Amino acid sequence: MRLASIVGAAALACVAGAVPMDIMQFLGSKLTQSSEYFQGLSSKHELLSFHKSLIEINSVSGDEYEVYKYLASYLSSKGLTVESQQVEDKRFNIYAYYGSQPNTTVLLTTHIDTVPPYFPYFIEDGKIYGRGSVDAKASIATQVVALLELLSAGKVQEGDVALLFVVGEEVNGAGMHYASEHLPYHWDHAVFGEPTENKLGVGHKGVYSFNLEVEGKASHSGYPELGIDANSKLIDVLGKIIHNDEYPADELLGKTTLNPGFIQGGVAGNVLSAHASSKVVVRVANNAHKVRDIIRNIVQIENEQYNNINLIEHQVFEPVYLNYSIPNFESGVMAYFTDVPNLKDHGIRSRYLYGPGTITLAHSADEYIYFDDLARAVRGYKDIVDYLLSV
Ligand SMILES: *[C@@H]1O[C@H](CO)[C@@H](O)[C@H](O)[C@H]1NC(C)=O
Ligand SMILES: *[C@@H]1O[C@H](CO)[C@@H](O)[C@H](O)[C@H]1NC(C)=O
Repeated sequence: MRLASIVGAAALACVAGAVPMDIMQFLGSKLTQSSEYFQGLSSKHELLSFHKSLIEINSVSGDEYEVYKYLASYLSSKGLTVESQQVEDKRFNIYAYYGSQPNTTVLLTTHIDTVPPYFPYFIEDGKIYGRGSVDAKASIATQVVALLELLSAGKVQEGDVALLFVVGEEVNGAGMHYASEHLPYHWDHAVFGEPTENKLGVGHKGVYSFNLEVEGKASHSGYPELGIDANSKLIDVLGKIIHNDEYPADELLGKTTLNPGFIQGGVAGNVLSAHASSKVVVRVANNAHKVRDIIRNIVQIENEQYNNINLIEHQVFEPVYLNYSIPNFESGVMAYFTDVPNLKDHGIRSRYLYGPGTITLAHSADEYIYFDDLARAVRGYKDIVDYLLSV
């Protein structure tokens, strides 16, 4: 395929006539600052218009159909081959690549759903607001523009790079789980787009979460021998869990930390508590299954007398360790969960986490991103792809 003539022309003969006024004005004030990142003005328009269009379509998890249709047709219009993968009724992943070779050296991937509630796009004080403006429509827009620019510059060929955009990341990873099981393709390196402030993520902690339910027996507090005090038992067992010093730490991810964020028990000061419970979340730096075994063991020993403590386990997710050494990139530990562990096998030898924007803003009521962060991420994705095609 003649990529430069087909995709190049399509990608850059873009939207000059269709650039909305707010973006034109915004760009006017930004041109001098950011011009180094771009080959030409049309790329800036393209990036901002595309990012805007993505945000203007509400795609709260479960309701991704409209943004899927828009994105699939956008990618086709740029000359890419687009495959749709139906995950559920009206829920589709998108797989796109140049030419006819779906197996590629590099995969760029992120998600098309957002957290609720939806709020619309606007620009104020140099900030671009809107639900998904960071997480993860900034990653979608910059991954796509990076690939189109690389294609039009002749720096990538058929078989080099593919794009995968999935549904449901913010809820349960349904889209990525489905892609992992059913996409019959092969990649050497996968780059996951999430807000990392344009650093390469070193990894993120795992999770072990559980409830403790203690059953006691109520009695008058003057006659404690007639009852079983659930509150004291819960305090004892929680104390042992909190003060255990054998939870594994990790050189990169730091300490395993534990939060007994909810505790409830008893009815009155003069009545032995008949029931007490707690919800605990452990952020695991290393070996979630070992953490689970330590806590199971503590509960088991405590149960030897009354057998009245119930350990109800919710999640055991191992920490994720990423590749993060690429020349000229900073790195950092990320404290949030991603789709990374949901994409298994497929020949993947290395996994990177990278994207524009800050996670602390991503789920907030005033989610926003700076234009310069988008511009930097386009360059970042291009440099990452360049590097991965050369190793
Ligand atoms: C893609 O890779 C898969 C798995 O390695 C292989 O079975 C398939 O034939 C490849 N497809 C193409 C079009 O090369
Ligand atoms: C990525 O990390 C894994 C595990 O640490 C390692 O085996 C692999 O060689 C790394 N890949 C690259 C390209 O550095």
